[in-house]
Amino acid sequence: MNATDMLEDVKLLDSHPSEGDIAAEIIAGLLKTQKTLPPKYFYDKRGSELFDDITELDEYYPTRTEIGIMTKHVADMAKHIGPQASLIEFGSGSSAKTGHLLNAMDKPAAYVPVEISKDHLINAARRIAEQYRHVEVLPVCADFTQPFELPVPAVMPERNIVFFPGSTVGNFYPDEARTLMQTMARIAKKGGGLLIGVDLKKDKSILEAAYNDAKGVTREFNLNILKRINRELNGDFNLDTFVHRAVYNEEMGRVEMHLVSNTFQTVKIGHHTVQFAKDEYILTECSHKFTVDQFAARAFEAGFRKEQVWVDDKQLFSVHFYSCEGA
Ligand code: AVJ
Repeated sequence: MNATDMLEDVKLLDSHPSEGDIAAEIIAGLLKTQKTLPPKYFYDKRGSELFDDITELDEYYPTRTEIGIMTKHVADMAKHIGPQASLIEFGSGSSAKTGHLLNAMDKPAAYVPVEISKDHLINAARRIAEQYRHVEVLPVCADFTQPFELPVPAVMPERNIVFFPGSTVGNFYPDEARTLMQTMARIAKKGGGLLIGVDLKKDKSILEAAYNDAKGVTREFNLNILKRINRELNGDFNLDTFVHRAVYNEEMGRVEMHLVSNTFQTVKIGHHTVQFAKDEYILTECSHKFTVDQFAARAFEAGFRKEQVWVDDKQLFSVHFYSCEGA
């Protein structure tokens, strides 16, 4: 379903998944042997706010490190991007990292934020449109893992640059990440590019602290997905019986977030029933960590050629620029 709404100043292309799609995906995950929930459903209004709070926590190094890298090297990045590019951002959230880039870019043709959280998207799109009056802002409300329609800018762009910051790519399993990179290559097209943030492998203690902060914001973020299921899918999760846990799975190279049931229990979601053993957990999110070479090899498979990689002094985080050879 596609609808174009006028928002005074910005046009919104709305391909938000239907309630039925959401319900089916959530139930399917909870009926698996290893119960899972899709991390994209963290991002309702409250979840998006909580994520923004996470990005400001002392323990959560990725956001501030990535912004540091981008601030320092933005001119260099803009040179790789080239003139009259259309910047297409996947999972744009509050578009916090976009301003620097639009400022540095040579005659940006358009900015296309693609985001599942509608309120967040609209607010961010309005803010960017107001601040960057020379840039056409064309927001798309969509689950970017599903096919979605791309708006056509008034001025034909020289090239498409996909911008995927935050190491959100790490939230996908390897086969899903492959498909997503292929989608991005189709959008960038031959001659286009990809600017992507990739979180690096590092000491377990740093990683686990980043997903288990002292203030308990990540805990609330994790549990919020159960609240959302209760509200939107008529569930009866008792939040007092689920415990937040974050562990670095060294073998898989990923931080896992769990919600552990502290008791044997039966949970209802609409007309479905889900049973939990004591200590059984829902895997709510995986956040994969990479070495630069590991990631470049994945990108290569999808048709991207490594042009440059920027890393902070402590080697916590990396930002990569790839040119696209075509999908
Ligand atoms: C959305 C990928 C940036 O995996 O680090 C933060 C989400 N989850 N804390 C990440 C998240 C828990 C985050 N990204």
